[in-house]
Amino acid sequence: MKKPWIVVTRKVANEAIELLESAGEVDVWQEDAPMPRAVFLEKAQRADAILTMLTEKVDEELLAHASHLRIVANMAVGYDNLDVEACKKHGVIATNTPDVLTEATADLTFALLMATARRLTEANRFILAGEWTSWSPSLLAGQSVYGTTLGIIGMGRIGEAVARRANGFGMKILYHNRRPRPEAEAKTGAVHVDLDTLLRESDHVVVLTPLTDETRMLIGEREFSLMKPTAVFVNASRGGTVDENALYQALVTKQIWAAGLDVFSQEPVSPDHPLLRLPNLTALPHIGSATLQARAEMARLAAANIVEVLGGREPLTPLW
Ligand code: DGY
Repeated sequence: MKKPWIVVTRKVANEAIELLESAGEVDVWQEDAPMPRAVFLEKAQRADAILTMLTEKVDEELLAHASHLRIVANMAVGYDNLDVEACKKHGVIATNTPDVLTEATADLTFALLMATARRLTEANRFILAGEWTSWSPSLLAGQSVYGTTLGIIGMGRIGEAVARRANGFGMKILYHNRRPRPEAEAKTGAVHVDLDTLLRESDHVVVLTPLTDETRMLIGEREFSLMKPTAVFVNASRGGTVDENALYQALVTKQIWAAGLDVFSQEPVSPDHPLLRLPNLTALPHIGSATLQARAEMARLAAANIVEVLGGREPLTPLW
């Protein structure tokens, strides 16, 4: 019998590839850049399973021609790159990689908050530029983190893990979620509030909500206008949740104090993007889950989902 053909859209941990080899023939894209769309469409026509990254769009166009495809295993917890309805329509199972990246992403989110509030990248640039001539009382003074109020928009697994870190920093925690999460409240002392209250009362606002039709451009001009002039704003979810033009204006006019972004509406963001020129913007290249350990676990879980489905069993982490 012909072995299933498994497409892997980027080089991932060997352990995951070995796992996949136990279930079929594995075709790994060897370049460390996304596969051109035409190549992806062509490979998808033959594939029984695809292990995708968030850089690949799985949509009606692709699925309509992928007649053998049984599973798309996305190596990310977010899955806004997949058209879930189209997958359902074509009978293709879709999976993501929850849990295994929670702590790594919460670490990065908190690190970005700290870096932004305490101006760490600016301080690093300052010293490299040879501008450090003496100690000064006002030199690179930032915003306090310990003992302040943190507002978390999107209290899922990662939001809760960020809240646990905030507990260690003596922070009061407010959160906004579609549905209140009493279990997260019990574990972290976080208090559910409406969005406007969170924006008005928080010293630091962190966005961790998935990108959906409901959350697209959730934070715009009106929302920035509600925040404190000393507010630090962090986005570690998806760029599409924030109106970047409104953020630019809010930073330039000092409506808010600073922002840290791990995600952008267009990725990779152009080095000429106006936001990147602002001293009060700390930018990272979407590295929320980027620890060697988390990435290996994500690849392993995505591969395990494929092995299960090709073996006729239920996926471990299905999207529905
Ligand atoms: C995710 O998993 O959704 C992250 O954004 C990528 O690591």
